[in-house]
Amino acid sequence: MRTAAVLYLNGRRVVVPPEQSGMMLSDFLRYERSLVGTKVVCAEGDCGACSVLRYVPSAKKEVRYLPINSCIITVGQCDGTSLVTVDALAKDEALSPVQSAMVNAHGSQCGFCTPGFVVALTGLVEKKLCAGVRSGACSAREAKNATTGNLCRCTGYQPIIDAATAIDLAKCESVAARYFSKPQAADLRKIRAEALRIETDAISFFAPRKIADAAKALAKDPEWRLLGAATDLGVAVNKGKTRLPKILSLHLVDELYAVKATAKRVTVGARVTLSELRHAVMDRVPEFARFLDLFASPQIKNSATLVGNVANASPIGDTPPFLLVAGAVLHVVGPRAKRKIPLEKFYLGYRRTALKRGELIAAIEFDVPAATESLALFKTSQRKDLDISAVNAAFRIEWANRERTKIKSARIAFGGVAATPIRGFAAEKALAGKTPTPETLESALGALHGAITPMTDLRGTSAFRRVLVENLFAKFFREHSPSSAVGNGASAPR
Ligand SMILES: Cc1cc2nc3c(=O)[nH]c(=O)nc-3n(C[C@H](O)[C@H](O)[C@H](O)COP(=O)(O)OP(=O)(O)OC[C@H]3O[C@@H](n4cnc5c(N)ncnc54)[C@H](O)[C@@H]3O)c2cc1C
Ligand code: FES
Ligand code: FES
Repeated sequence: MRTAAVLYLNGRRVVVPPEQSGMMLSDFLRYERSLVGTKVVCAEGDCGACSVLRYVPSAKKEVRYLPINSCIITVGQCDGTSLVTVDALAKDEALSPVQSAMVNAHGSQCGFCTPGFVVALTGLVEKKLCAGVRSGACSAREAKNATTGNLCRCTGYQPIIDAATAIDLAKCESVAARYFSKPQAADLRKIRAEALRIETDAISFFAPRKIADAAKALAKDPEWRLLGAATDLGVAVNKGKTRLPKILSLHLVDELYAVKATAKRVTVGARVTLSELRHAVMDRVPEFARFLDLFASPQIKNSATLVGNVANASPIGDTPPFLLVAGAVLHVVGPRAKRKIPLEKFYLGYRRTALKRGELIAAIEFDVPAATESLALFKTSQRKDLDISAVNAAFRIEWANRERTKIKSARIAFGGVAATPIRGFAAEKALAGKTPTPETLESALGALHGAITPMTDLRGTSAFRRVLVENLFAKFFREHSPSSAVGNGASAPR
């Protein structure tokens, strides 16, 4: 059993002093390693100033460094990974092509956001180089997508996009080629093969190799806080809402990094990130992949897990509505036994779940809807990017025939309209076995109206959420029914 976290930082092996394992990575870099290029502005994962590049060894052959937020992840969680910070991008006193492009395009004024943009754009370049694109430039669209998680208060974004599109890929050296090596890979494999147990006055940190050991530890002492990527918990810590004196991390449990997909079901392990999930469902459930584009930022998705989003039990988490209509089942491991919990039985009340003492989620499996079904996912928020939903929704109709003139069954789910994510059972019943007519739509809308109790908060009033729910469903119903059936006849949005 190891007693200290070990990681690679800018190509060098670092043994983390045990008492520093619970520090946020950004603080560790700045105050313990004097790598002050990494900035902290919001400390909530929102602005991207703290972005660093990370490679997590996994079964995949590709070695790719991805940008993550260092302000909401503890150093202990980076055990067994390889990190590269902005401080290491210049070479022999010469700026990297990304840095030079930012200078040449006047992409920086006060400079506080600049290291984060440089890291995000280096992540984009890394993606292109990994895909074998070694000449030409990044497009403006790619640059905008890559920097969704970066805020600038003074330069304005155009010069930054101009910088990104001026980077000559032919002149770029891959971060992986520069900072990763075969000996490092072998060492990381050795590091990750041994469990980690840290005990100091400041922190206890346990990273077992087997999920059963995590369940046993949780059952013995509920003070352990189970971490996925900590993109929810890290924010709560920085806001002073919680502390993490006893961290239980699953980052060394190999089996939890797997995504298994068949033609009918996808099973996603607890350590699978949302970026990996998006990649895995791109062909099978393209609507879910598109929806994940609206989830947080690249930095968050390169770290955050699907399981964390579900277990966090927020009434407005973005993935539960899809998972509810996709018949999701949670694979739960306890200290003595395993069991499966259908997601629709998982949420017992506001932030209360069916997990018992010692239980944790190993994986989530869900349906791949057939190509003949209709599926639509919606997220309504004040900003398109990097915002929390006011209402999110998932609609799925299985048709009785190819012509779509009869509904076999329907599944409807919402977030943001009750204390938990909910199914619209009454509306589903109103649709089953019916033809898609304006009358069918009216009766489903009536059922929805009676079934939800939205609250008023800063993201929207109760009345607004009610109208939103009904109009989202009406939009879906019209768009997916044969136009001859509901096209002009259905009632106008309320
Ligand atoms: C800037 C920012 C933007 C965000 N945008 C969005 C967004 O657009 N939509 C959205 O829905 N969320 C968003 N989030 C919230 C968060 O990123 C997601 O909920 C994420 O999926 C959480 O995953 P995690 O692995 O980081 O969970 P963690 O923070 O590690 O854990 C969350 C909870 O799940 C529990 N948990 C974790 N793993 C397990 C397990 N295996 N078994 C049982 N319990 C477990 C933890 O104990 C904790 O209570 C955002 C967060 C930030 C900081
Ligand atoms: S400091 Fe703003 S995202 Fe980390
Ligand atoms: S240059 Fe000042 S915040 Fe971007």
